[in-house]
Amino acid sequence: MPGFEIFGAEERKQVNEVLETGVLMRYGFDGMRNNHWKAKQFEAEFAKKMGTEYCQMVSSGTAALTVALAAAGIGAGDEVIMPTFTFVATFESIMASGAVPILVDIDETLTLDPEAVEAAITPKTKCIMPVHMCGSMADLDALKTICDKHNLILLEDACQALGGSYKRKFLGTYGDLGCFSFDYVKTITCGEGGAVITNNKEFAQNADRYQDHGHDHIGNDRGAENHPFMGYNFRISELNAAVGFAQLEKLDNILKIQEKNYTILRDALETLEFVTFRRVPEGGVENYSFLNFFLPTTELARKAHEAISKSGIDACFYWYTNNWHYINGWHHLKDMKSLGRLSSEIKNQIQDLNNTDFSKSDAVMGRTVSSLIKIGWTDDQVRERAGKMRDAIASVL
Ligand SMILES: Cc1ncc(COP(=O)(O)O)c(C=O)c1O
Repeated sequence: MPGFEIFGAEERKQVNEVLETGVLMRYGFDGMRNNHWKAKQFEAEFAKKMGTEYCQMVSSGTAALTVALAAAGIGAGDEVIMPTFTFVATFESIMASGAVPILVDIDETLTLDPEAVEAAITPKTKCIMPVHMCGSMADLDALKTICDKHNLILLEDACQALGGSYKRKFLGTYGDLGCFSFDYVKTITCGEGGAVITNNKEFAQNADRYQDHGHDHIGNDRGAENHPFMGYNFRISELNAAVGFAQLEKLDNILKIQEKNYTILRDALETLEFVTFRRVPEGGVENYSFLNFFLPTTELARKAHEAISKSGIDACFYWYTNNWHYINGWHHLKDMKSLGRLSSEIKNQIQDLNNTDFSKSDAVMGRTVSSLIKIGWTDDQVRERAGKMRDAIASVL
């Protein structure tokens, strides 16, 4: 997730233009801002790049998910189906909306298993949220069919898969809404930032208003604007947007280098008979931000990960025991630990996560190892890394 690896004069120029005007806010101050509208410019460019009608920048990927859910009218007691392998922002944003996260198994795509999704649908289900983890995607056609059948919203979390595509459409543009993070470790970064994209005019207008206290953004007197509904503050600052604007120009190059480095690593690991790779649905193209592979058993995956670390290779993850990304480590969610009282809808409808059977997910995650792809590596460094990874894995097989 390498945007930060290539900071340079372009980011400085954009940020300096904002600092020179002193207008750090994305709205208002028209006379002072010397025509610099970094957030607006980013939104126009990002929508064009993604091929969607609308883009709303916000302060983080977590904010993007929260705003997207609100924009689609999801609230108290509505059920949102999510995978067991994701970042904690998924259930955080659902619960912040008052909705109820319903966790279901993943398959070898490393995200939602369509059969598990179908089995989890109740009259309260409103939304399916695939999370395109580690650069690749869910079976989007199968999920869309389920959504159409049950009249549900398809909300894609593409925070880790910017630039990947499915059936010639960028990830994030296939569902009703798509969300991105531009935090410090993402494919492109704003420092902190995020975006919601959609082709739905009503959702776009809702997102625009909700992320700024419900302001209707009509006219140019902020103090006199109306508030058609209650909102919140998930605004991006002009400084963060300026960094993102410079980074957006670099996206194609980042993706190209990621693919090259990924391919060198994959070619090396493909020589190992017992190593297999994450399933990419037909018609899908990864963004190559991670190389994800399977060992035949949990025990071998654990040993392979240990051997890789011991050989001095960094940025390889064994998510099965990583606190942040798999349900195994979400004790705070399983035990429903919150600062304030949770709503009765959440308390009544949430699964007993300490006793739900996720053995199908365990069987996949227990065997999964992921290597981050950096763009700062020289070809020699990637080849050396590939050789060391292959040898380390071979040593435990
Ligand atoms: C899949 C996924 N969704 C959402 C987020 C949240 O993004 P942010 O850190 O910008 O809030 C992340 C961040 O790591 C993520 O990986």
